[in-house]
Amino acid sequence: MKHIVGLLLLAGLLPLAVQAQEEIMTLNTQELGTHQRPLVIFKHQAHADQIDCARCHHDYDEFGVNQNSDGQRCIECHPVNGEENPIDLVSAFHRQCKNCHQKLNLRARNTAKPEMCGQCHRQQPVP
Ligand code: HEC
Ligand code: HEC
Ligand code: HEC
Ligand code: HEC
Repeated sequence: MKHIVGLLLLAGLLPLAVQAQEEIMTLNTQELGTHQRPLVIFKHQAHADQIDCARCHHDYDEFGVNQNSDGQRCIECHPVNGEENPIDLVSAFHRQCKNCHQKLNLRARNTAKPEMCGQCHRQQPVP
């Protein structure tokens, strides 16, 4: 079995390395400086299991059609001060995370998906 996996890897048939992001991320964008709030714990894999990558990692062509940005970080296009893109980094995160949760909660008529500050901002930074 090991040999088969090895062969598949050599043949490039198992692109495991491409998917090597951490399953649970602690979001801590350095460009935001010292965070005022506890850090956000984000279950990346649990989201990626249910949601298309390009839904979050978007990129738009000249006609506004979403072309996947292949896992690029948000800060690549949403600067902290929002000068080049009208949507600054923190608004970009908040709008993307909260809008989806709100929509799903409305549809399910419950509040299962986090909308409150403390439900996302969960980890006290290590001093
Ligand atoms: C659905 C998840 C979610 C909710 C709810 C949420 N945030 Fe955030 N918030 C984020 C994410 C993600 C970031 C970006 C963190 C990073 O990359 O460092 C962020 C960043 C921030 C930042 C900038 C970083 C810092 O700590 O200084 C502040 C301030 C902030 N949020 C305040 C709030 C407040 C106040 C509320 C409630 C009104 C709130 N957030 C609710 C996800 C959330
Ligand atoms: C629900 C939204 C969402 C989905 C779906 C999602 N991601 Fe992400 N992903 C994020 C966020 C948010 C980050 C942290 C971005 C940041 O720090 O600016 C991230 C980070 C990453 C990173 C690390 C980027 C870096 O340089 O640190 C990679 C790679 C990545 N995602 C790939 C993927 C792939 C591949 C998929 C689909 C299988 C996917 N993501 C699905 C939201 C998502
Ligand atoms: C390759 C560049 C690029 C990357 C990477 C990127 N964005 Fe965007 N984003 C854009 C552009 C361009 C717009 C459209 C701005 C406008 O309307 O003029 C946009 C719009 C948005 C919007 C408002 C409209 C919408 O589509 O919902 C949100 C929210 C947003 N981005 C959040 C994020 C988050 C969160 C990340 C990281 C997971 C991210 N973006 C990564 C380029 C990018
Ligand atoms: C396109 C929709 C969508 C987007 C965008 C999205 N989420 Fe979620 N979120 C979900 C769904 C679906 C679940 C339930 C996942 C499960 O089954 O555990 C969820 C659950 C959660 C939970 C509760 C589960 C847990 O971790 O304990 C947190 C916290 C959370 N999301 C944070 C975030 C943050 C932070 C972002 C933005 C970086 C984000 N989400 C963006 C759809 C979304």
